[in-house]
Amino acid sequence: MTTIDRYGVMGYPVSHSRSPVIHRLFALQTQQTLQYELLQVTPEKLEVAIRQFQRTGGRGLNITVPHKSEVAKICDHLTERASTAGAVNTLSFRDGEIYGENTDGIGLLRDLSINLGIALEGASILILGAGGATRGIIGPLLEMQPASLRIANRTLDKAQILANHFSRSGAVSACSFNVVPVTEKYDVIINATSAGVKGEVPPYPSAAVSPDTLCYDLSYGLKPTPFSVWAREQGAERSVMGWGMLVEQAAESFNIWRGVRPETAPVLKQMKISA
Ligand code: ATR
Repeated sequence: MTTIDRYGVMGYPVSHSRSPVIHRLFALQTQQTLQYELLQVTPEKLEVAIRQFQRTGGRGLNITVPHKSEVAKICDHLTERASTAGAVNTLSFRDGEIYGENTDGIGLLRDLSINLGIALEGASILILGAGGATRGIIGPLLEMQPASLRIANRTLDKAQILANHFSRSGAVSACSFNVVPVTEKYDVIINATSAGVKGEVPPYPSAAVSPDTLCYDLSYGLKPTPFSVWAREQGAERSVMGWGMLVEQAAESFNIWRGVRPETAPVLKQMKISA
């Protein structure tokens, strides 16, 4: 009897996840036969659920909020990216062992550099927020050698801890929202707070936005997110939501599991109109 290779996304809550649609589109495009499931699992049951999925023939999992940090602890092997980020969004099960990778950062980089044509080398970057999402993207952004990378957060301590963690690069610094230095022009501002998800609009630093600043919200929706509305109101000509990062990180996971990287452009187009 032939069995279909099983994959899925584990999160809590997870019903809003677009990953099943994206991976089905990738499978169709690359003519692969696989099954991709939506798996809602509470934090207390996470490890048991992962091991059960592995035991019953699962090949790989995407891990989403709020499990990305916890899952790093149960992996037998972590890539350097996942271990620097302290977070995992992609698991592969091979020979009874669990391999953890984080494709969020590379997904963002591909969207910024390839899809949006932004030159990150020498750029000045401002990240709003200092939670798990920020931790996942700092390492890959620094690999692109920006001139500066500033982390602004409501709670200054958390931004400082992250800046210290990545201090081998002199480019990283921390501040609070209300004291973001604006002596330099920011080429890119990335919203990595979860405020918009809760419908909140924190006092983002408006003076940091110029017409040329690319404002990028890691969140996405069919309607503009609160941050993308705010960015337009400050005069940013390009205010983008994270659909591209979502599809690119999924393509990286698909490549890890299946050894083939799907075309992202057609899937991205379809997501934006049919999500
Ligand atoms: P994590 O990703 O670590 O689970 P989170 O609670 O989802 O954390 O918050 C992610 C980021 O969004 C944090 O930087 C958080 O700011 P604090 O460190 O000050 O808590 C930020 N954030 C969430 N809601 C916010 C709001 N209403 N205003 C400003 N920042 C907010």
